[in-house]
Amino acid sequence: MKIDLTNKVAFVTGSSSGIGQAIALSLGKAGAKVVVHCRSNREGAEATVRQLEAAGAPETLIVQGDVSKEEDLADCFTAIDKTFGQLDIFVNNAGIDGERELISEGKLETFQKVIDVNLKGGFMGIQMALQRMLPRQAGVILSITSTHEKVPWAGQAPYCASKAGIAIITESLALELGDSGIRVLNLAPGAIKTDINRDVWENEETLADLVEKIPQGRMGTSEEIGDVAAFLVSDLAGYIHGTTVFADGAMTAYPSFAKGG
Ligand code: BGC
Repeated sequence: MKIDLTNKVAFVTGSSSGIGQAIALSLGKAGAKVVVHCRSNREGAEATVRQLEAAGAPETLIVQGDVSKEEDLADCFTAIDKTFGQLDIFVNNAGIDGERELISEGKLETFQKVIDVNLKGGFMGIQMALQRMLPRQAGVILSITSTHEKVPWAGQAPYCASKAGIAIITESLALELGDSGIRVLNLAPGAIKTDINRDVWENEETLADLVEKIPQGRMGTSEEIGDVAAFLVSDLAGYIHGTTVFADGAMTAYPSFAKGG
């Protein structure tokens, strides 16, 4: 049994760093032709491509644009149409945490920005992917949500709302898709060591506080998420549809109940 994505074209948004980069690499290692995407970090995207080439991935393409802007995103999809003429896998990964602000004093701009990138950008990407997959009655759409699609987070309500929003869009889409041959699902990572939370894991005190929230006792790695993603978009996961798979070291399992109660 082997994850085999040969002849599949996979588009991973936000793959110039972190989890997206690792997903791109895992998909390429499994044989997919990978479309790497960045908003502004071209060097990061090029680094992803170099890693893909070193890993023997067949073909790559870099597309650049802001996922929160309809035109930018449409241009990315058009470039994929022109180069590959098909899209088999869409990984809706690009996202931001946003500023930490309590709801009572949070700026509307913070809310809008997080929603525009994570929720609106995700929704538009899913729509554009569907437009390519529906005529062929085949494809997989994997959204990278977060443990925070379920777990509330003080100071990060817009982020939680954006992730919960994508989660329910995926579930609703599964109902719309019926037996279309297209699968749609979410992968919810927990605390994965990337740039997004560098401020937390670089500091001993905040790292200790974070690890206390993870029953498994450690942060996850991007590679661990990349490999789960490769499995989820492959035929081996053919019956996982309209749901979320958590890869979070049991962060969702109420760690504060490990003792007492
Ligand atoms: C966030 C990280 C955070 C993790 C666990 C992720 O969705 O992007 O910043 O460390 O959740 O709280």
